Amino acid sequence: MADFLEGYSIQRWLESCPQGYLADTEFGHPPGEREPELLVKDPMLREQAISLTVQLVAGERCALAASSGLINCAPDEASKRFLATQTLDEARHVEIFSQRLFDLGVKKAELDDVVAQLANPNLVRFAEILLEKVDKRDFVAGVVGQNIVLEGMAFSVFEMLHESMKVGNPKFAHTLAGTIADERRHVGFGENRIGSLIIEHPERKADVQQMQKEMSYHMLATFADRFRSGVIDAQREHLREVVPDTPGVPAPEYHGVNLAEASSEDLENVLANTVLGEFKTRLGRIGLEYQTPEQP
Ligand SMILES: [Fe+2]
Ligand SMILES: [Fe+2]
Repeated sequence: MADFLEGYSIQRWLESCPQGYLADTEFGHPPGEREPELLVKDPMLREQAISLTVQLVAGERCALAASSGLINCAPDEASKRFLATQTLDEARHVEIFSQRLFDLGVKKAELDDVVAQLANPNLVRFAEILLEKVDKRDFVAGVVGQNIVLEGMAFSVFEMLHESMKVGNPKFAHTLAGTIADERRHVGFGENRIGSLIIEHPERKADVQQMQKEMSYHMLATFADRFRSGVIDAQREHLREVVPDTPGVPAPEYHGVNLAEASSEDLENVLANTVLGEFKTRLGRIGLEYQTPEQP
């Protein structure tokens, strides 16, 4: 447990995060950076950016509720302190993505209504499955659901988004980069802490695996809703009309897929396969068997 204490202490968190990669940032990005003017002015692009950002706010609100709820059912002090740092990270994520909605023109008084209206129902169900475990003070299931499943998903989604935004929207890309660094720490905690608990409580395996299967289904259904809605093709076509070609800009790539040109189907597949592959690896490391979800 000594290494564990060292790697996830509040001291380490202070040095690497607020005093490290977040030093001198403002809502997660260098001060002065703004959303591209086109995104704020063009009704279609703005609407799409709002709808995407709402999913991030919804996911992070769930992570905030889960990590804070898990503090009081953690079996040891080191985990409680780590989860306290994670709670602040997740609260920050809620804040910076909410701030992005304000930057895109959402009024503060309308935030909750906009989130309730646009949050994908499958993502909402995904969150409920996790929060039911947290409400029952089920630490093992809660940490697997939060730090392996939810954050494994968030990590890959943020990386894909970061890749596609880094040329066209440095402000959002920088916001995502800090979040990715946080999520990497959270996923690491999940693996490090939960492995020994699974060994101590092998009787918990079956229902934790069942939770993973259910959450994975709702995650895939969330991806399907987005990638099969036609929104990506519509957005690309619209962009070709309003933005002249900028030659010399390298195409964004994610696991060998050209994000600017791949079909929606290929984009959905690369994201789903990456996340499920990560689940398989991480669950294997903590002694759980990955369960293949149903296909939406
Ligand atoms: Fe987060
Ligand atoms: Fe997280």
